[in-house]
Amino acid sequence: MGTNQPKWLDNAVFYEIYPQSFCDTNGDGIGDFNGIISKLDYIKELGCNAIWLNPCFESPFGDAGYDVSDYYSAAPRYGTNEDLKRLFAEAHRRDMHVLLDLVPGHTSVEHKWFRESMKAERNEFTDRYVWTDSIWEEPQGMGCIRGISDRDGSCAVNFFSHQPALNYGFYKPDRPWQQSMDDEGPKATLEELKNIMRFWLGMGCDGFRVDMAGSLVKHDEDGKGTIALWQNVREFLDREFPSAAMVSEWGEPDKSLQGGFHMDFLLHFGPSHYNDLFRCAEPFFSDRGKGDVSEFIAKYKENYEKSERKGLICIPSGNHDMDRLARSIHGDNLKIAFAFLLSMPGAPFIYYGDEIGMRYVENLVSVEGGYGRTGSRSPMQWDSSTNAGFSSAAKEKLYIPQDESADRPTAEAQIADKNSLYNEVKKLIAIRQSYKALQSKGEIEFIYAEKDAYPLAYVRSAGDEKILVVINPAAREVSFDCNIIPKESIYGFGGTMSFADGKITVSPQSAGYFRI
Ligand code: NOJ
Repeated sequence: MGTNQPKWLDNAVFYEIYPQSFCDTNGDGIGDFNGIISKLDYIKELGCNAIWLNPCFESPFGDAGYDVSDYYSAAPRYGTNEDLKRLFAEAHRRDMHVLLDLVPGHTSVEHKWFRESMKAERNEFTDRYVWTDSIWEEPQGMGCIRGISDRDGSCAVNFFSHQPALNYGFYKPDRPWQQSMDDEGPKATLEELKNIMRFWLGMGCDGFRVDMAGSLVKHDEDGKGTIALWQNVREFLDREFPSAAMVSEWGEPDKSLQGGFHMDFLLHFGPSHYNDLFRCAEPFFSDRGKGDVSEFIAKYKENYEKSERKGLICIPSGNHDMDRLARSIHGDNLKIAFAFLLSMPGAPFIYYGDEIGMRYVENLVSVEGGYGRTGSRSPMQWDSSTNAGFSSAAKEKLYIPQDESADRPTAEAQIADKNSLYNEVKKLIAIRQSYKALQSKGEIEFIYAEKDAYPLAYVRSAGDEKILVVINPAAREVSFDCNIIPKESIYGFGGTMSFADGKITVSPQSAGYFRI
């Protein structure tokens, strides 16, 4: 399978934009495409050269746009398809790339396909979703929508109960209503998915972040059906859009890679141990120095080896589904966390506002199906003007209330402060971009990642270029046995490191990159 990896992905540093909350130019309290266009220079200046845009299609917004009601139309609140097309063009003009968020597993109940599929008479969309053939039979283990259609049956849901599951078939159908992947209905769903991709790639988008990519074929325990489905998509892309980039929300890079994705996301739930790093009672990235990185690294290594060191895992600083990084770690800990995030393989993803340490806004009422996630989705804080420069709307009209603290971080203030988190992140991105070993495809070898111990150390390499990374969030000096003597320091934060007598000794709260 000839998976074309677009060259730009090798050196991509992504910035995730939640369009609702980024920049509002028409004063309705909700961000828009023109707002994003107006901030492309800010993103570029930070050093990010790629964007992941959360869903921006027509939707009743019961799950913030992950409940699409028309895949072919931009949501009017963000602008028009033409505006979105202009966003792609403006990004390209700056040598940046844009991934749209593709939601292939479910739609909104308001999608016309679903309304048609609820009808008693057979029609083109009868088999577009996973339906049982009797209202009294529920699809096992999936949750369902029932009792709202003339059609006699229950429809499986994929996430919230207003998100009916699109039908890509069952790996091994064992009930009369379960269709196989080769049946006409599932085949038509897949062809429609390709049409959607074709449409947006034709408009100039550079690829997709794919929502819940591993869950399309049902009762597919080993993922074989879903892998085959994505291989089919890959063939289409290789034929028609060979430079399209594909990043999956799957959490199993070996499977995702087999499916033809270029990179996979590390998930904050499931077995990844990602939360051990930043979001638990004793995170590794804390000066308290009571965290444990070893299980995260063990799992990371397992996935890395399973995918023959090729299944690239993207580690996000955060995203719209998890607590803000700055909810559990603060101050220099954030800088040290970025020294790690920006020196790992796979493309790093920076969630908008994390580069300035935006906080999780506590005690909010849920907005658009956000629930506990709402506090991580508050509007970007640009400057000291009204609504932190996000919008000219009355405060009560803002999409989500902002952080009200007097000392809330803003981009403007951090750009001006040379010791800010923003400037540290900018420096780290620039270093990553000047050394191939630090970029997406550079190899990684862990040198020190012991249970309940600090620091964390690893070597990144590409050809002859080798870079040792040492990260010590703990507020105490630590050391470990290692014979490496570096040639040159290329990044240092928080103190010195000494290399002598077969030991590396690391100052409290410090991070360093060294050419070896
Ligand atoms: C994952 C998305 O990131 C999340 O925001 C959404 O609610 C679910 N998938 C369902 O689409």
